[in-house]
Amino acid sequence: MAKLRYAAILGWGMAVPQRVVTNDELAQQIDTSDEWIRTRTGINQRRIVGPGEYTSTLGADAARQALERAGLAPTDVDLVILATCTPDRPFPATACAIQASLGIPGAGAFDLNAACSGFVYGMHVATAMIRSGMHRTVLLVASDIFTHLLNWNDRNTCVLFGDGAGAVVLQATEQPLGLLASTIGAWGQGEDLMAAEAGGTRMPATPELMKQGRQHVMMNGREIFKHAVRGMSESSLQVLAEAGLTPDAVSLVVPHQANVRIIEATAKRLELPMERVFVNLDRYGNTSAASVPIALCEAVETGRLRDGDHVLLTAFGGGLTWASGVVRWGRPS
Ligand code: UT7
Repeated sequence: MAKLRYAAILGWGMAVPQRVVTNDELAQQIDTSDEWIRTRTGINQRRIVGPGEYTSTLGADAARQALERAGLAPTDVDLVILATCTPDRPFPATACAIQASLGIPGAGAFDLNAACSGFVYGMHVATAMIRSGMHRTVLLVASDIFTHLLNWNDRNTCVLFGDGAGAVVLQATEQPLGLLASTIGAWGQGEDLMAAEAGGTRMPATPELMKQGRQHVMMNGREIFKHAVRGMSESSLQVLAEAGLTPDAVSLVVPHQANVRIIEATAKRLELPMERVFVNLDRYGNTSAASVPIALCEAVETGRLRDGDHVLLTAFGGGLTWASGVVRWGRPS
């Protein structure tokens, strides 16, 4: 009988724009305060793109780092998946621009849009591709310039987000490493709870709609908050049960970084102390699909993860979407 394949994480990388924007800077432009933003969200500052920085450039920078750490060449990659809801252009897929920028010859390349859940969705899809035997080495990138969707006069949304990218390289192995169990879910009835209305085929952008700001993201923060805590905690418990693990066996939770209160409420439902939860949204805000891989990358680089550890990834976003996965950390020996 063929041995079960796994998909180990061989390399990781991240990229954020140079420009730092503090809460105080935002408070000079809109009716908000550093105190409100810090106490209600946990965010102190965020990174925002400047000229020449966009989804594929940040994504390619993160991907280059991930390949380097994996010790692999562009020619080793046989599939590129980009999780994003803010592509370079409406058409074609931004994954193709990343493929070209890295010089990856011929590998399949496509975008995946699951908003803030995109990276964990991507882990699920990439791992399934590898486990099926159809692909051997997958470059999974998550890159979002979410500030592109913001109305800078809407204090309900503009203080929450930042830009960034993260990437991992996954490769087939027979050792039980990488994603051990995962789930993805969506509740499409909730799509209006967080959406940019205009600019697609349902409501093409016209000068009139643009003047009304209908191309910007609008959000019912309170409703999203409740769905996020439920979606992340329930799907986390589901994947832990599938992997035959109790929350206690989790060394580190790397959750989507939207609001520290959402993260604390989720940890409480999992009965895990905050010492076992990685938080970096104070420095980056909510970077959409990039938030989990940026956090994962910083967790590894600061020594919070060791070989053999179980890491729980969990995310929630527009759609509404959610996804969780439990990873056994380590490279094949
Ligand atoms: O990746 C998924 C993406 N989205 C999310 O994760 C968002 C989830 N939701 C949240 O994080 C929180 O709901 C928010 C941070 C968006 C809002 O926090 P909240 O504690 O739910 O506040 P609220 O919406 O209930 O608003 C409380 C008050 C309101 O004033 P009134 O009506 O009580 O007078 C708001 O107008 O806070 C006001 N407010 C602000 N005040 C200062 C809202 N935004 C701001 C702001 N600065 N930036």
